Formats: sequence, C-alpha cells, structure tokens
Amino acid sequence: MTKLAINGGTPVRTRPFPKWPFWDKAEIQELLEVIGSSVWGIGGVQVPAFEKAYAHYHEAAHGILVNSGTTGLEIALKAAGIGPGDEVLVPAYTFVATASAVLTVGATVRFVDIDPETYNMDPAKIEAEITPAARAVLPVDFAGRPADYDAILKLSAMHNLLVIEDAAQAWGAEWKGKKVGALGLAGMFSFQSSKNITSGEAGIILTNDDGFARLARSYINCGRVEGGPWYEHHYAGGNYRPTEFQAAVLKAQLNRYEPLLKKRERNARYLDEQLAGIKGIGVMRLDPRITRQAYHLYIFRYNQEAFGEMPKQTFLNTLRAEGIPASGGYGCPLYKQPLFVNRAFGPKGAPVDVGIDYTKYDLPVSEKACAEEAVWLNQETLLGETADMADIVEAIVKIQKNV
Ligand SMILES: Cc1ncc(COP(=O)(O)O)c(C=O)c1O
Repeated sequence: MTKLAINGGTPVRTRPFPKWPFWDKAEIQELLEVIGSSVWGIGGVQVPAFEKAYAHYHEAAHGILVNSGTTGLEIALKAAGIGPGDEVLVPAYTFVATASAVLTVGATVRFVDIDPETYNMDPAKIEAEITPAARAVLPVDFAGRPADYDAILKLSAMHNLLVIEDAAQAWGAEWKGKKVGALGLAGMFSFQSSKNITSGEAGIILTNDDGFARLARSYINCGRVEGGPWYEHHYAGGNYRPTEFQAAVLKAQLNRYEPLLKKRERNARYLDEQLAGIKGIGVMRLDPRITRQAYHLYIFRYNQEAFGEMPKQTFLNTLRAEGIPASGGYGCPLYKQPLFVNRAFGPKGAPVDVGIDYTKYDLPVSEKACAEEAVWLNQETLLGETADMADIVEAIVKIQKNV
C-alpha cells in the first residue's frame, strides 16, 4: 500500500490544475479598443453589445449588465416590487448574496432545505415555508445545476409567487432544452473572478418582461428613463452601471465559453462514472430534464463510514496533500450565519424582529452537506485533461485503501 502524502508519502500529483481565468489576445485587443475609443463608461457600445449577445445566448428578451451579481439580485427584487412586509423563499445552502439581497430591499427571508441528491432547493419543502406574506421564490441553480423548475414554476403559479432565479453559477445551463435565467420573471448571473465567465466583477439580469426590464434599467442608472433628459430622475435608483472594460472582457470570455463548457461536462461525466464505483462517495443524481449543466463546481458527497470514520475535514486535508484542490464548501447553512442568528438587519447591525427566530431553523440536509458530506472541486479543476481527472479518482481510492 502506498503511504499517504499527509504521512510523508509521495503525493498522487504535484502538477497544478489549470489556473483561472483563461485569457489571451482577445481580451487584450478588446480592452485596447475601449481605451482607444475614449468612451470608458456610459454611452459606449460594449455594454449594449454584450447585453444583447448574452441575452441571445440565454434565450431571453432583455439583458441588463450591472456591476455585480449581488446588486443584480437586489435590483431584480426591487424591480419585481419586493419590499418591506414581503417574504422571499431562499435555499439555506447558497452564497450569502441570495439571502442578503432580500434583506437589502427590506423584505424577509424564509429558508428552505435542499434535496440531498441535488443540493438545490427541495420543492417538497417549499410549501411548508409559504405564509400569506410570501411574494417570491428565489431558487439557486447551485454549482451550475438547474433547480427543479417543473415543480417550482407549478408551485409558484399555485401560490401566486414570483420566481427570480439566482443563476449566478449557471451560464449555459438548460432545463429541458431551455436555457435558465428567464424561466420565471427574471434571473441573475455573476461574472465575479471565480466564475466560469468573468470580468473580475459584474453580473447580468435577464428577463422577458419589458416593464420589468425598463424599471431595472432605470434603477441601475440613477432612476433615469430611456430617452429622458440626463438630469431627470423618476425612481429611487442608484449607480450600479458596469464599465465598458467589463463588457469588453466579457465579450471575449463569452466567445470562448462553449468549448470550455463542453470540457467541464465531459470531465464531470468521467468523474461521475468513476466515483460512483467508490464506496462512500455519492455522486449527484442524474436528471434527464437537465439537458446542460454549467459546472461552476463539481460536488460529490463524502460518507465517513466508508473511510474508517475519518471526519470530512481530515479527508479534505488528506486529499489536498495528495495534490487535489478540494474544499468543503460552506461551513454552515445561511441561517447559522451571525447576520441571521443576531437578525442584524437594522442600522449599524441593530437586531430587527421580523417575526422569525432564525436560531429555530434546523434543516437537516443543509446541515449535513456543510458538516459531513459536501466536497467541492472548482470549475477550473474540471478544465484539466482526463489524466488529471484520473488523479482525483486515484487519490480518493488511495485514501480509502489506507484507512
Ligand atoms: C449563488 C450565488 N449567488 C450570488 C452571488 C453573488 O454574485 P457576485 O459575487 O457577482 O456579487 C454568487 C457569487 O459569488 C453566487 O455564487
């Protein structure tokens, strides 16, 4: 038996996995053009061109580029008319922005547990969280895997809820052959540094609703209306506009996206097949309704019983010592973050009574994913070759043989 690297043995690999972001002459050329144009912000051609290209790629009527995914969610909620007194249903296993955007518009968060085999909002758990104040549901296409839109759209129609997708991680993902993002009222995608399409920071809102698009566009541009005088302001908006530089880089990134998406899909399929054969490693459920998955993360489920009761953190440390850059993801469900425990929603973090005691939440699937089960590989790891994926499998098998 070969000795584990963490105990002084030779690691399975020392070569690094691909480094993100990928870029080449295309980004440089695009940026030089912006600089040379002397139009770096408002009034430029890059932002509208990218909005059009991305909306077209995602089969939506409108794309509104904003300075981050987080602000994209906030603006989408605001343009949907969500505000104080409204409740929004959010999965407990997601990045904080999904929930903090709801707080920013003055509405209240209700948490829903996730499905153990998809890590997306569990549709069977939604109804229990619907109160008369519920106005919207905010499903996350977590890791680039579309949520169950058959169930979510049906439930939202039954209960008169708006659907706003947090598709921050789901560029190119499809539900039953249709791109995500504008399956409900609107959706948001992030282009932050770690994301599969990136300009460092930025986000985009997609929608098929003309009125919503007009309002969202106004909110990101100081409340101005299209064609209106520069110093005429109709709504309480702000400046959330992106720069021409961001749009220029995004254009180059989008042009190179499809082959990278295909590669991630191919490597994920390989890992699914190989890891399914290892006792104690659970692969996520295959769902034929998901016709494309974006793979911002490749997630598998670790069961310590099959690894001599080695805790998840020790497994991760051991795997990393073998040269595999795995992480454990979120340390706790969102309701356990100090923000929610202390209900620090008021001025200067003062507690606010919203009628929900977040310390009473105990959503078992989210808890287990954080504490025991979820192992994440980042999207750039999936940009390696098959031999690199084989190293991941080999490292896990090596650990298991050593316990
Ligand atoms: C699920 C999810 N929602 C929202 C966001 C927020 O996007 P951004 O970082 O662009 O503000 C992110 C990105 O980190 C995310 O992963």
